[in-house]
Amino acid sequence: MGSSIELNNKDFNELSQLVYNECGINIHKGKLELLKSKIAKRMRVTRIPSSSTYLKHLKNDKTEITEFIDTVTTNHSFFFRENRGIEAIIARLSQQNTGTNKNFRLWCAACSTGDEPYSVAVQMLERGLSFSLLATDISHSVLETAARGVYNAERVKNVPTAILHRYFQKGTGSRKGYIRVRDEIKRHIVFKKFNLITDPIPTQPFDVVLCRNVMIYFDNPTTEKVVNKLHQALVPGGLFTIGQAESLLNLNHRFRPIKNIPSTHIK
Ligand SMILES: C[S@@+](CC[C@H](N)C(=O)[O-])C[C@H]1O[C@@H](n2cnc3c(N)ncnc32)[C@H](O)[C@@H]1O
Repeated sequence: MGSSIELNNKDFNELSQLVYNECGINIHKGKLELLKSKIAKRMRVTRIPSSSTYLKHLKNDKTEITEFIDTVTTNHSFFFRENRGIEAIIARLSQQNTGTNKNFRLWCAACSTGDEPYSVAVQMLERGLSFSLLATDISHSVLETAARGVYNAERVKNVPTAILHRYFQKGTGSRKGYIRVRDEIKRHIVFKKFNLITDPIPTQPFDVVLCRNVMIYFDNPTTEKVVNKLHQALVPGGLFTIGQAESLLNLNHRFRPIKNIPSTHIK
């Protein structure tokens, strides 16, 4: 990943502080080369030949900060990722729903390219549950992909065949090897830009909030702030689910873990 960019200590510290303040991502010294390669990438795109001029531009231009954050975020995701927890949450909602026809409110709070909210949506539909789903991310480029709903077929390899046939269309001709999410699923989802660090939570509370595989990039004080913010976004008894590699241990929070649902907590 070698790049010819010079980045002195002062610039590195300023830049990592800017990223931390803007999106909570903690870039430590071990990520110096990675950071340099991201700067080099943005210098090419913006056609700014000198790194010191680029850094000045970055510090003073909100749009460029957004673009830069876009390059430093990790967007890896795939359909039906860590699905045992989602399955169990949906089974629980289904039990709560007997005799009523509640419209559940769900929020995927770091939805990346849409794989997660679409995975949740198709399973809610399979159970015959009514719902609306807010899917948010800090990165505008992943949200564009999410709204398009077209993916390399590799990404859906964990999706059960029956669900794949019901809710996805297979590409043909030049689209061979791609799949498209059917419009009837998209109708249930609103994709929107949302920064977990700086944006205020939506006013109407949710029954379920998923915030998976993003807090691994945050330090403890930031994770604690985000967890407590999302606590406020839930109805009493609402469910909060995190990634398998994440934990609420050693944080100050008011959630109670749910024993039989992996990585899930109740308000
Ligand atoms: C690794 S993806 C996880 C996607 C999905 N939740 C999953 O588990 O597959 C992490 C996402 O968090 C987003 N992200 C990073 N910092 C964020 C912030 N401060 N606010 C909102 N989203 C953020 C990134 O843009 C990225 O799309």
